[in-house]
Amino acid sequence: MPNTISGFSKLTKSEKIEWLLDSYFTEKDNARTLVESYWNSDEKLQKLHDEFIENTITNYYLPLGVAPNFLINDTFYAIPMAIEESSVVAAASKASKFWLERGGFKAKVISTEKIGQVHFTYKGDFNKLKAFFKHVKPKLISDTASMTKSMERRGGGILNIKLRNKSEDLPNYYQLHATFETMDAMGANFINTCLEQFATTFKSEALQFEDFNDEEKHLSIVMSILSNFVPNCLVRAEVSCKIEDLKSKDIPNPEEFAQKFKQAIDIAKIEPYRAVTHNKGIMNGIDAVVLATGNDFRAVEAGVHAYAAKDGKYTSLTHCSIENGNFKFWIEIPLALGTVGGLTSIHPLVKFALQMLQKPTAKDLMKIVAVAGLAQNFGAVKSLTTTGIQEGHMKMHLMNILNQFEATDIEKSELIKHFKTNVVSHSSVVDAIENLRK
Ligand code: MEV
Repeated sequence: MPNTISGFSKLTKSEKIEWLLDSYFTEKDNARTLVESYWNSDEKLQKLHDEFIENTITNYYLPLGVAPNFLINDTFYAIPMAIEESSVVAAASKASKFWLERGGFKAKVISTEKIGQVHFTYKGDFNKLKAFFKHVKPKLISDTASMTKSMERRGGGILNIKLRNKSEDLPNYYQLHATFETMDAMGANFINTCLEQFATTFKSEALQFEDFNDEEKHLSIVMSILSNFVPNCLVRAEVSCKIEDLKSKDIPNPEEFAQKFKQAIDIAKIEPYRAVTHNKGIMNGIDAVVLATGNDFRAVEAGVHAYAAKDGKYTSLTHCSIENGNFKFWIEIPLALGTVGGLTSIHPLVKFALQMLQKPTAKDLMKIVAVAGLAQNFGAVKSLTTTGIQEGHMKMHLMNILNQFEATDIEKSELIKHFKTNVVSHSSVVDAIENLRK
């Protein structure tokens, strides 16, 4: 049974599948049928998806759901969410409705600066390096002119380049630390292209810098890459209302609710074990919208969690205050997002999602995504501090268990009715299915 192969990428899709079936599957026909059943019958569409990555064998579906009724800065949005976890879209929809009746969400972009670095080593006099940097900086910028032209036309470009001495942390280590404005693009390609040009110019100019001795001339570029830590690409979203206005079917005692809710946020501020789960709940909302809009959720995840730990201790990304009878709940997070470039103009469902959001600018999308995170966190903390999370969670999970047992539509509707008044757990659902089938 072979389990390694060379030249895999050169095989056709069917050959790749056959190799996998021969190597790892006993029920080959079933496995083949499964993989092929996920192919799209529209060959052009399938080819488009095949070519997003290498070695594609089929498509991997995630549900695309919608959370409607989001009022953000007085505009209504139906928010697209791509996510597998039951209860996330339902919680977002519930939170949007709750705040719709209380003035909606307010959001604003605080800053939009992106960062990239050229990491290099240099053995020599730092003052000479500083002089060289001053000398070469205009050329670093002018050598990227052809790359920055169209970005500049759109209002963006290189904001600044600084030399940073990191040699106390790591011997001989220095950086060119550059900042960028990338407008509606996430900007990864633009930034990396500029950085690689900076590196080329920096290296070749160093060889000709007269004040450098031979070793100094041969400074060495280690790598050039954008940073996904974007603490100056920040957005804030907020909800607020009078405490008494929090009263609703689920919140009979708003004063008690507000105090307990704030305690939950305060706990997440000081207790990292709680903060991580608290922020995970926020990312349930954020990632789902980031994914639906064709953005890079890994970049967002990395940047957001780094931001949560920026003061040396991992803490909550949301904040709550109770002052003069007012309840305020807000989030401040870094989000490097794009609404042009990347998948945004090629993935049909991403185009559909952006259309649903009324063709947002990157700044609009930052606000929408931050609101989705805040709404999700509101829903989670509200449940946690009132009914507990399992009630809603298991109700949504019920469908997964029913599908696992291949319940028919009639069985599903019977059992959904049954579990309106009974506690859902894996075993109680299994018992109920068995009883029904007796
Ligand atoms: C589950 O996906 C997310 C929660 O655990 C978030 C939280 O605890 O705040 C419910």
